Amino acid sequence: MIVLSIETSCDDTSVALVDHNGWVIAQATADQDLAHQPFGGVVPEIAGRQHVEALLPLIEALLQKAQKHWDDVDGIAVTNRPGLIGSLIVGLVTAKTLALAKGKPFIGVHHIEGHILSAFLSDEPLQSPLFWSQPFVALAVSGGHSHLYYVEEIGKYEEMGKTQDDAAGEAFDKFAKMLNLGYPGGVHVDRAAQSGDASKYTFPRALIKEKNFDFSFSGLKASAQRLISTVDTQVESNHLCASYQEAIAEVLVHKLEKAMLSRGVRYFVITGGVSANSRLRELATNLAERRQFEFRLPKLKYCTDNAGMIGLAGVLRLMKGEASAHDLAPVARETLS
Ligand code: KG4
Ligand code: ZN
Repeated sequence: MIVLSIETSCDDTSVALVDHNGWVIAQATADQDLAHQPFGGVVPEIAGRQHVEALLPLIEALLQKAQKHWDDVDGIAVTNRPGLIGSLIVGLVTAKTLALAKGKPFIGVHHIEGHILSAFLSDEPLQSPLFWSQPFVALAVSGGHSHLYYVEEIGKYEEMGKTQDDAAGEAFDKFAKMLNLGYPGGVHVDRAAQSGDASKYTFPRALIKEKNFDFSFSGLKASAQRLISTVDTQVESNHLCASYQEAIAEVLVHKLEKAMLSRGVRYFVITGGVSANSRLRELATNLAERRQFEFRLPKLKYCTDNAGMIGLAGVLRLMKGEASAHDLAPVARETLS
């Protein structure tokens, strides 16, 4: 089964063709970084307008690139929740219209389910999917969310913990803004940290001793603000980045480990934009080696928002016989379950 998938929940317009084993046959993405850069964050009004311009030409280019026709497409998957409402509407209305015009079933997908499944995407045709038949823990960390889930099986998600304030990606982005490193900030902090000393500054590890699996990053941001006003940021930038990144990565992996031990689970994934972070990936690898856990991290291009992951979540649901009705609404906020 092949689905055409659409992801427009925030500031990336992305479309893909994905099969039921998780093979991304083709994907095309238009980011809006240049449009939002002057504002240091996503401007919802601009994001919606840019999706309107980019989406249909991108779908045409995708089909051409993959040398596929509508006859090859068995269904349409689209992110309908959660996200910026104006952005979601563009993708959802386009998906419904194409489904009607081409006579295909369509399915609305939860963005975070997509992120979780991004760890199982492949650029090669697969004989069988890469998922485990065992329960696993998923750490989903991006600009809009930071959650830990117990995944009994694909499609069944139990929230174990989440951020009490800022998302991990947001903490990276706000810090990068303080240092004028550029937007989106995570990748710039990651790059600067490569040549910094992570032990030079101490940032707080909030909630690390608490018994729950929640995170908090707002105190970290405040302490960075105070510190930055007292040092020469030109000279210290790389050390600040390395120390700040270490605080985030350490807390994330510590809580992941606790969550896995509490459930006796041996498998984990880390997904979402922040899973591209090189230090987080390193600490995840160390954790797996130390505890003999098995894990999957998405390829870098499937860490940030992409339609491949929405396609996989959609195709699995369509194969189970699920489909959405044409009155499906976009939802700005909704927890995954
Ligand atoms: O998943 P995503 O594309 O969008 C949301 O659903 O929010 O994640 C974007 C976030 C941004 O906050 C960005 O700074 C962060 O992921 N990010 C990173 C890295 N690459 C992207 N954070 C840390 N290190 C990176 N290498
Ligand atoms: Zn996302």
